[in-house]
Amino acid sequence: MKKILITGANGQLGKSLERILATRPDIETTFTDVENLDLTDREAVENAITTGGHDFIINCAAYTAVDRAESEEVAAARINTEAVGNIARAARAARVKVIHVSTDYVFSGNHHRPYDELDEPYPTSVYGRTKLEGEGMLTSFCPDAVIIRTAWLYSEYGNNFVKTILKKGKELGSLTVVCDQIGTPTYAGDLAEAITAILDSDNWTPGVYHFTDEGVASWYDFAIEILNLGGEPQVKVSPCATKDYPTPATRPSYSVLDKTKIKRTFGISIPYWKDSLRKCISRL
Ligand SMILES: NC(=O)c1ccc[n+]([C@@H]2O[C@H](COP(=O)([O-])OP(=O)(O)OC[C@H]3O[C@@H](n4cnc5c(N)ncnc54)[C@H](OP(=O)(O)O)[C@@H]3O)[C@@H](O)[C@H]2O)c1
Repeated sequence: MKKILITGANGQLGKSLERILATRPDIETTFTDVENLDLTDREAVENAITTGGHDFIINCAAYTAVDRAESEEVAAARINTEAVGNIARAARAARVKVIHVSTDYVFSGNHHRPYDELDEPYPTSVYGRTKLEGEGMLTSFCPDAVIIRTAWLYSEYGNNFVKTILKKGKELGSLTVVCDQIGTPTYAGDLAEAITAILDSDNWTPGVYHFTDEGVASWYDFAIEILNLGGEPQVKVSPCATKDYPTPATRPSYSVLDKTKIKRTFGISIPYWKDSLRKCISRL
């Protein structure tokens, strides 16, 4: 029986893991979030990890408010960097394997081909920088970890782009969405399945991996598909440029990730983003 500690369990990825792992009687799970395991509390983290007897930690916790992070750098760094350091040190001492989740926003977005794991990160936002520094904590203090960079997550849970577009589309009847940021919408359920495949694999191979759904889209393409699949095709969507929709954080204009390494190492097959979007919307 594998014993797994899941942190940040109330978020999109945590909830998706909860749904999937509920079907696995061979895996014993402990789900925690800030109210019962605040990862910024070093002593509490050490205690949970050294006394828990877990084989794996899946860290789903993060400060994910990308724009707010620009004015709350200290708070973002505490969760995205320092808390990861707390996990890394304790996990190494207790010999617990860590699966940690990072982001495509570690890249600048100047590429015109998918980013692979050897490409040099160059974050343009506080969120991206604090997440990259979190990766660094693991590389320094717990090099046996698996770090998965993902992107554009949505799910049935919490607030996300899919729910916002459906709600605002119905309310307003027309929307304007940026068309010059290119990436891949990724269903958190698919990432949770990939993480489960890594848990099941006998081939624990530490390092950085990229995971998103298959395919490429702009936020504009994503919005159109959400409205079509969500039964609201009458909502008018107009494309706009990022420069006409200024936000506090600078986001990469291109952040498609190359997933070859995770597919080859763990034998993972990945769905096309539109197929997964249909699945998510049918579950909403
Ligand atoms: N969402 C995306 O589009 C996206 C894109 C790329 C990468 N990622 C990465 O994917 C991972 C999962 O993202 P997600 O969308 O599932 O995030 P999420 O929905 O924002 O969930 C994060 C969870 O972490 C919790 N948390 C915050 N501070 C904590 C602390 N000090 N101790 C313990 N838990 C704490 C949050 O609680 P509160 O809600 O109470 O703060 C929340 O329940 C994260 O590492 C994120 O950086 C996400």
